[in-house]
Amino acid sequence: MSTLTVDLPGRAYDIIIQPGILDQAGERVRALCPRARLVAVVTDDTVGALYGQRLTRSLQAVGLTAQVFSVAPGEPSKCPENLVKLWLELAQMGLTRTDVVIALGGGVVGDLAGFAAATMLRGVDLIQVPTTLLAQVDSSVGGKVAIDLPSGKNLAGCFYQPRGVLMDPETLATLPDAAFADGMAEVIKYGAIFDAAFFHFLAQRPNRAAVMSDIGQVLYTCCDWKRKVVLADERDRGERMLLNFGHTLGHAYEKAGGYQRWTHGQAVSAGMVAATRIGMELDITPPDTLWEIARLCAAFGLPTAIECSNEDYAAAIGLDKKSAGGDISLIVLEALGHAVARKMSKEELLALVDRLFVF
Ligand code: NAD
Ligand code: GLY
Repeated sequence: MSTLTVDLPGRAYDIIIQPGILDQAGERVRALCPRARLVAVVTDDTVGALYGQRLTRSLQAVGLTAQVFSVAPGEPSKCPENLVKLWLELAQMGLTRTDVVIALGGGVVGDLAGFAAATMLRGVDLIQVPTTLLAQVDSSVGGKVAIDLPSGKNLAGCFYQPRGVLMDPETLATLPDAAFADGMAEVIKYGAIFDAAFFHFLAQRPNRAAVMSDIGQVLYTCCDWKRKVVLADERDRGERMLLNFGHTLGHAYEKAGGYQRWTHGQAVSAGMVAATRIGMELDITPPDTLWEIARLCAAFGLPTAIECSNEDYAAAIGLDKKSAGGDISLIVLEALGHAVARKMSKEELLALVDRLFVF
């Protein structure tokens, strides 16, 4: 077992990484929320079928009343309709301010349940039980919760830190390969932006089985970096932006594929390679870095380039018909393991992208 503390003043919480912790969740929830009586377990149909019963049994074993609320798997579930439905169901259940919401699942469930917990009764305790690699290394830590709106992803949301994060690496055993690879894009990102030694550690483990044999260390290292960034910049006004490495152009790729063809992780992978190429063009990134990042992403079946139109790049950069001009901070690498924000005009970035990637 390993524990990391996100030591935010007055809202400190632990990330506990422990194989089999699902079966001890009841005791953990009791300790974290001693006045709780009811627990709303929010999950999706896939995760609920795999792990819902183990979690609810463990809650019931310590005298808690657990009720499961399940949504369809996938991004479309992070929608206003499901948020309203959850509010009504939590009210119907009789949830009070001393009760608890548990998010059991990937980032979709974490973001939806988290926003419901943040807004229900002006805030009830939230415990994250992440079950995808992406949720374990990224979305369950740091308190960003949100839903999507028809006009864009994560447009309605807030910062709401959980009371605890209970992470069971064994749940990753049932994750499809594509979802595992998606999480690896974020894992590789931590190495690229903060930690060259961790990047090389991953390069020596270039497949799922090898990563899983050291999964405790991988989760710990990523969560430790996320913890440090959140402590330095909880509200995403400075250092936390470094986590956007690969995401600015990644958004263009997700859009180019109509949010269907490319997953978020695939788009981030191609986005990290593209940002590295731009960094080289600006004489910021050493040329070897491009090959190192591309090779590691490719090892996990992630794309290193995605075709994208000038219009989709322009929209992702914020240079479409609705908005024009201004600056953008592109995250680039000064070296492997050291990211910096490079401010430039949106026009300058679009011109670079046009020259390097649009044929
Ligand atoms: P997801 O939640 O859709 O999960 C991916 C798929 O894996 C789903 O079909 C799910 O049912 C299935 N699944 C989950 N756990 C499983 C398991 N253990 N075994 C088998 N199947 C399992 O996707 P995700 O990649 O976890 O999260 C993506 C979401 O996270 C996006 O909405 C994104 O915006 C959000 N996100 C949020 C933050 C944040 O800081 N809040 C950060 C990054 C991403
Ligand atoms: N996933 C980016 C962030 O938490 O800021």
